[in-house]
Amino acid sequence: MSTFQSAERRISARQPQQSVYSLEGRLQIEHLINPTEPSDEELHPGSDVIRGLNQQPKTLPPRYFYDDRGSQLFEQICDLPEYYLTRTETEILQSCAPEIAAITGPCELVELGSGSSTKTRLLLDAYQTAGHSLCYCPIDISAGILESSAQSLLLDYPTLQVHGLVGTYELALQRLAPSHLPTRMIGFIGSTLGNLNPQECDRFLEQIKTALQPGEYFLLGIDLQKSKAQLEAAYNDAQGITAAFNLNMLRHLNHRFEGTFDLTQFEHFAFYNESQHQIEMHLRSLQSQTAQLKALGLTIEFAAGESILSEISRKLSLTKIQQDLESKGLKSRQVWTDSKQWFGLILCQLQP
Ligand code: AVJ
Repeated sequence: MSTFQSAERRISARQPQQSVYSLEGRLQIEHLINPTEPSDEELHPGSDVIRGLNQQPKTLPPRYFYDDRGSQLFEQICDLPEYYLTRTETEILQSCAPEIAAITGPCELVELGSGSSTKTRLLLDAYQTAGHSLCYCPIDISAGILESSAQSLLLDYPTLQVHGLVGTYELALQRLAPSHLPTRMIGFIGSTLGNLNPQECDRFLEQIKTALQPGEYFLLGIDLQKSKAQLEAAYNDAQGITAAFNLNMLRHLNHRFEGTFDLTQFEHFAFYNESQHQIEMHLRSLQSQTAQLKALGLTIEFAAGESILSEISRKLSLTKIQQDLESKGLKSRQVWTDSKQWFGLILCQLQP
């Protein structure tokens, strides 16, 4: 396949010191562009930015956090003492990964928002220990992090096949090739589902259902409801990494759409909305100001103190999300949590 050739060439050009021959044809990375039926977003890049900034209150889609720098900042967030999510999910995966491998048997592993694939290694280890073939399809919006993590996985797992897709979840779910292994599991861990509002969540689960064959699996990691104090600490860390991550979205938009956002004139602001059970992360304007996104022909006026909602992070109830999954034919096979019930992992299977 030509995509394989071009992916290898691109990687070798970027990292000339690393031999591409060690990959032994085990890596393929496709950039999901130039589709035959382009979506609105592909025909008009940034149309979602225009839509969000013209809304009242203003919003921006969380996916614009994840340029290469944003993905690196997110990796730093995962190591913060206040950010319990990654540590807790890792702890759960450490104990349940062998059970997951035993339930699914040999399985192609697709991961949405794979990032550094650190937690995924626990699953790959379990499948390897069980003697199953390893086939991994990471999907991420950031090409840089996808390519570097694929490289390091290939070095650490000598029989692993990697078929990465660079693009949005929606496109990637439409483009999944049939699995070469007896079954498939789509993993969506890290509580990224919490970024979707109830309506977007419903659409997303519908897309998962459509992408799976009956009998195939969906592994979902979700952050659960807990005290306001603990949640707010996790999104207002003492080192200011979350603030830098939030502000980086404006830097990314400046770079991508010829923008003029002055990063010194906005501040990070995050709080827990208890009635909606969601963290809301905002970029608050420190003064009345105007910014432009020239490539989008957009001029944006801010009043002093006005903010852009850059992310919601919903904290879910296990029983409610299981009902939502079941309404899409995704029946829970097993649920795991940690001893404090901070985080949940659900393995479900598409019913015939
Ligand atoms: C990757 C979406 C799960 O909502 O906790 C971390 C992103 N935002 N700190 C989250 C995030 C601020 C994260 N998710």
